[in-house]
Amino acid sequence: MCGIIGFVGRQEAAPILLDGLAQMEYRGYDSAGIAVRGPEKGLQVMKSKGRLQALSDLTHQGADLTGPLGIGHTRWATHGEPNDVNAHPHVSENGKIALVHNGIIENYLEIKEQLMNHGVTFTSDTDSEVVAQLLEYHYNECGSMTEAVGRCLRRIEGAYALGIICADYPNAIIAARKDAPLILGFGENENFIASDVTAILKHTRDVIYMNDGEIAVLTADSIDVFDDELTPLNREHSYVDWDAEAAEKGGYPHFMFKEILEQPEAIRKTVSPRVRGGRVVLDDIALTADYARRISRIYMIACGSAYYAGMVEKYVWETLLRRPVEVVLASEFRYCQPLVDENTFVIAISQSGETLDTMAALREAKRLGGRTLAVCNVVGSSIAREADDVLYTWAGPEIAVATSKGYSTQLAALDLVGLYLADLLGTVEKAEYDAILTELQALPDKMQQYLEHYEETQYYASRYFNHNSIFFIGRNLDFAMGLEGSLKLKEISYIHSEAYASGELKHGTISLIEPGTLVVALGTHAPLFDKAMSNVVEVKARGATVLAVTTDSLRESMEKTADAVISIPETHQLLQPSLGIVPLQLFAYYVALQRGCDIDKPRNLAKSVTVE
Ligand code: F6R
Repeated sequence: MCGIIGFVGRQEAAPILLDGLAQMEYRGYDSAGIAVRGPEKGLQVMKSKGRLQALSDLTHQGADLTGPLGIGHTRWATHGEPNDVNAHPHVSENGKIALVHNGIIENYLEIKEQLMNHGVTFTSDTDSEVVAQLLEYHYNECGSMTEAVGRCLRRIEGAYALGIICADYPNAIIAARKDAPLILGFGENENFIASDVTAILKHTRDVIYMNDGEIAVLTADSIDVFDDELTPLNREHSYVDWDAEAAEKGGYPHFMFKEILEQPEAIRKTVSPRVRGGRVVLDDIALTADYARRISRIYMIACGSAYYAGMVEKYVWETLLRRPVEVVLASEFRYCQPLVDENTFVIAISQSGETLDTMAALREAKRLGGRTLAVCNVVGSSIAREADDVLYTWAGPEIAVATSKGYSTQLAALDLVGLYLADLLGTVEKAEYDAILTELQALPDKMQQYLEHYEETQYYASRYFNHNSIFFIGRNLDFAMGLEGSLKLKEISYIHSEAYASGELKHGTISLIEPGTLVVALGTHAPLFDKAMSNVVEVKARGATVLAVTTDSLRESMEKTADAVISIPETHQLLQPSLGIVPLQLFAYYVALQRGCDIDKPRNLAKSVTVE
C-alpha cells in the first residue's frame, strides 16, 4: 500500500526520494509525488498518476526540484480516485506546508466541514489533504510547527504515518505515527523517514521504529523524538541486518520467481538457529511449561496466505498437542466475540507485521486477557512489537505482492513452536518428535531437490494456462495446502479458482465439473492417498482434466488415473505441505507468465494491507 520516504541532508533530495519510492514500488500504488524544499526555489511539489516512471519523466529524474530536504509518496487510492490532484504530497492553502500520509483519517469529513466554514478551499477528495489544511490552521494560530503538529494530532482520529515539511522550516522534516508504520533512519550528515525499511536500506541500517503517538523532528544532523505532549524521549535504536541485495531482483525476471527459489535458504534461516542438541530451543519466546499446561484454547489469527498457513498448522498442532486449534480470519475475529481468557494462546501470523486486521485482532485478544505470540517476518513491525512474544521468520525482504517465502517460513516457524509446545507438554513420543525435527531440518535440501527439475511444472503451466476456471481438491493437509495454491493462482493469473476438501465435492461443487474442467488434485498426504485417488476417478468420470501433485513414491499409482502428474520428495507427513506448495507456486507463476500478467504487482493488490 502507500509508501513514504523523507530525506534531509546535504545532497539533492529529489533523486534520493525517487529511488526510495522505487524500492517500495512492490507495495502497490497508483500515483506518486515528491515535495522538495530548497534555498532557491522554496517549496516545490510535483506529482503524477500512474507508474513512478511518469513522475521521474515529469521531473527529469528529479532535476527539476532542487534542495537538500524533501518528502515522497506512492499512493494506493482509498479516498478519491487515483489522479494527479489526489496524489500526495498535499499542500496547504497558503502553499507553505506539504505533507505525505499513510493510513486513514476517520473524522476527516467533520474537520473538512469545519475548515470550510473558516473559508478554507480544498482541492482534492482525500482525507489526507484535511491534515495539511488543519496544520496550516493551527500553525497560523500558534506560530510553531511542532506545536501545530501536536494540536493537529489531538484532533484527528484514525491511522497515520505522516511526513511534513514547511517552507518556514528550511532544515527540518516532522514525522508522526499512529497505527501505520514509520521508521527513522540515521545516516551521516543525513537522515531519513520511511514507511518501509527497504526504501532506505542503501543509505543506513541504523533505525528507530517509531511508536504510536510519537513525533520526530529530523534535520541533517539530528533526530529528536517526542511523545504526544512534546516531551523529549530517549528511544532505542535498532540495527537492520537485511541484505540490501536481497531486495533487488538480481537478474531474475520477477521478484516472485526469485523468492520462490530462495525458499530453501529462507527455511534454513528460520529453523537452523533454533535447533540445538536435537531439540527446538526458542530463546526468543518466554513461554513456560506451566503456562503451556494451562492453555485451554488456541487461536491462530491472520489474513490471506498467512491464514492458510494457519490452516495447515491447525492439522499439525492438533496432532502434536492434542488441543483444539481454531484458525480465524483476523477481519472476523475482532467482531465475533472470541472466547479468549488468560488460558487462551493467540498466535498472530503476519509476514509484514503491519496488516491492520491482524493488528486489530491481536489487540482484541490482548484486551480479553489472552497470551499472544506474533509470527512475523519484518523485524520491528507493529504486530511484532505489540505481541507478548515474537518469533521472527527471518525470510529476508519479500518484495513480490504474492507471498511465497513469507508463507513457507511461516509454516516452518509454526512447526517449530508446535514441536516446542509438544515437548513442554509431553504430548508427542520422543521417536516421533525426533523424526519430525530431523525432517524439518532436511526440508531445505528436499525443496532444492524438487527445484532442480521444476521444468515439468513449467510445461504443465504452458499446457493448461488457458483454462478459465480451475479447482484444487485435497483432503486434510492437502486441502489446507490447496487453499494457498488456489489463492496463488487466482491472485497473479486472474483465473477463477477454488479449493475444496475433496470429500465435500459430492455435496455441491461436483456439479461445476464438466468436460475439460481442470482439476488440480492434491495427493501428497499418504494416509489418505487412496481416498484422494477415488476423488480423482470421480472428477475424471465427469470429464475433468486432472493435474495431480503427489510424492515421488506415489507417482506411479497416480499416473494410472491422472492426466498429468507432478511429484515432490517425501518428508514427514505433517511437513509435506511445505514441499507440496512449491510446485503450486511455480504453476501459478508460469500460468501468469503465459497470460502476460503483471506478476510482481497484480492488479488491485497491495503488499501490506494497512487499511481495514
Ligand atoms: C497472498 C498474500 C496475502 C497476505 C495477506 C496477509 O499472496 O500475500 O494474502 O498473506 O495480505 O499479509 P501479512 O502476512 O503481511 O499479514
